[in-house]
Amino acid sequence: MGDVITASAPGRVNLIGEHTDYNGGFVLPTAIPQSTRVELRPRTDQQVLAHSDNSAPDGSFVLGQEQPTHQWFDYVQGVTWALGRAGYAFSGFALHVSSTVPLGGGLSSSASLEVALLRAIRAAFSLDLDDLHLARLGQTAENDFVGARCGIMDQMAASLADTRTALFLDTRSLDYRRIPLPDAADLVVIHSGVTHRIAQGQGVQSEYNARRADCEQAATLLGVPQLRDLGTADLPRLAALPERLARRARHVITEDERVLAAIDALEAGQLEQLGELFYASHASMRDDFEVSTPEIDLLVELARAEADVFGARLTGGGFGGAVVILTRGGTSMQVAQRLAKTYADQSAQTPTVLVPAPG
Ligand code: GLA
Repeated sequence: MGDVITASAPGRVNLIGEHTDYNGGFVLPTAIPQSTRVELRPRTDQQVLAHSDNSAPDGSFVLGQEQPTHQWFDYVQGVTWALGRAGYAFSGFALHVSSTVPLGGGLSSSASLEVALLRAIRAAFSLDLDDLHLARLGQTAENDFVGARCGIMDQMAASLADTRTALFLDTRSLDYRRIPLPDAADLVVIHSGVTHRIAQGQGVQSEYNARRADCEQAATLLGVPQLRDLGTADLPRLAALPERLARRARHVITEDERVLAAIDALEAGQLEQLGELFYASHASMRDDFEVSTPEIDLLVELARAEADVFGARLTGGGFGGAVVILTRGGTSMQVAQRLAKTYADQSAQTPTVLVPAPG
């Protein structure tokens, strides 16, 4: 029996650039203080035993014989499967997972598990694996084993982001740049209480995959490899598409532009402008991409009514999850508490304030 190896990886909140990553576009996530921590004890055989403090049941499988079960440990199986397929050599292990990232909250609980586990396996078995390749293996696990056709944003954020900077990522080239978050603004992240847990997640997963299929079909009809290849000058061409596909494409094309505008606003310290981009992104996700819910829309509208709020939007894949709010520096705690209370009163939901982190 080898020593116990521990590793962790954070969840993320995406500031702007939603449903752009699988279209080759731009994203701007940052890490949240919540993370997934794993303890891995290597075994001498090929058996993997996985326990999570957050999800039942325990999992057990043999390396090389991974089979999807629709349980949480499919992420564990997906990771070992992807590593095995890529030719990495390692043995079985006992795994203990504990996470403070809410499951199914649009804050990348699954990517943080994948990246934490990949880090632990890398350390335990001395694998030659850099942080970027590690992120790609996490995405492979998700795409080709779990069956969620997600882009690369979440795994790149879990692998490369920190809480002090935003990670501006070009998801086509995988070039990235860290942009400091300004002191004059705070972030608030509130989970709406509406989750898309994997156990009930087949519906959500197929909605997500359906959005991706719409985008791919729109790109094909417009004669480009990906929607990333179009700009706002191309918007009149969308009139030739079936109405739903036109709205999907309009979201992606305008969202890519908003990310670039957000970078400029962030670097120039133009926080009102950045906030307006948040609201515009939210409206586009709600109306054109149709991934919001009434609860999330309520949270965004309540935030809009706050004097110290610059902007607010749904963050992550949607169909529930969390909102990210940009507030005047030093006001985040009061704003978050007030919003959580008003939202709880007006919805049937129990919100959780994740940022600023309690304590
Ligand atoms: C999920 C996916 C990401 C990305 C977002 C939407 O989080 O895992 O790849 O597509 O949705 O921006």
